[in-house]
Amino acid sequence: MQYILSTERLSLRKLTHADWSFILELVNTEGWIKFIGDRNVHSEADALRYLNNGPLASYRENDFGLWLVESKGGEKIGLCGILTRAYLQNPDVGFAFLPEYTGKGFAIEIVKATIQYAMKHWQFEKISAIIIPTNERSINLVERLGFAFVERFKHENETLLLFTYG
Ligand SMILES: CC(C)(COP(=O)(O)OP(=O)(O)OC[C@H]1O[C@@H](n2cnc3c(N)ncnc32)[C@H](O)[C@@H]1OP(=O)(O)O)[C@@H](O)C(=O)NCCC(=O)NCCS
Repeated sequence: MQYILSTERLSLRKLTHADWSFILELVNTEGWIKFIGDRNVHSEADALRYLNNGPLASYRENDFGLWLVESKGGEKIGLCGILTRAYLQNPDVGFAFLPEYTGKGFAIEIVKATIQYAMKHWQFEKISAIIIPTNERSINLVERLGFAFVERFKHENETLLLFTYG
């Protein structure tokens, strides 16, 4: 298996079609629906469509994208990676974990390694994070990593907080 990077407890690798059932589970967790949004993924075909139009398209177009977070034991536990959005000046970091793998410091461990790797590898000067105001766990996480609050803005009728690192 070729990994993008590894930390003490975790590894990051590209997603493939074989990860469809993990995607189906993750994007339907309460946390994902509440804080990221309902992607209408309810079947294998939907999950494959999500993979094709999202992470796999981004690997092709940008080289980076959302990657799979694995434990050293090989369990699929979350996603973390770098995204681009037309309405943002800088690339942004995205992350989400299955609920049974939160509260263990896994998210902060892999987000920290991901931003360090991405800034070096693609020479990004800054990396942003966009978070809805009620997502306190994510706000805590990026603030602990040294992201600074930039502004509150509206996108497609939703209020978002912009944080930037670097
Ligand atoms: C956002 C999300 C990834 C945060 O996960 P998390 O596990 O709370 O994040 P962290 O890695 O920072 O872990 C912190 C917790 O682990 C605990 N912890 C245990 N061992 C630890 C260790 N070795 N190192 C650091 N923290 C540790 C901390 O005490 C803290 O616990 P607390 O919340 O009870 O205070 C998760 O809630 C999630 O997937 N949410 C849904 C999707 C989402 O919102 N994505 C972001 C959209 S912007």
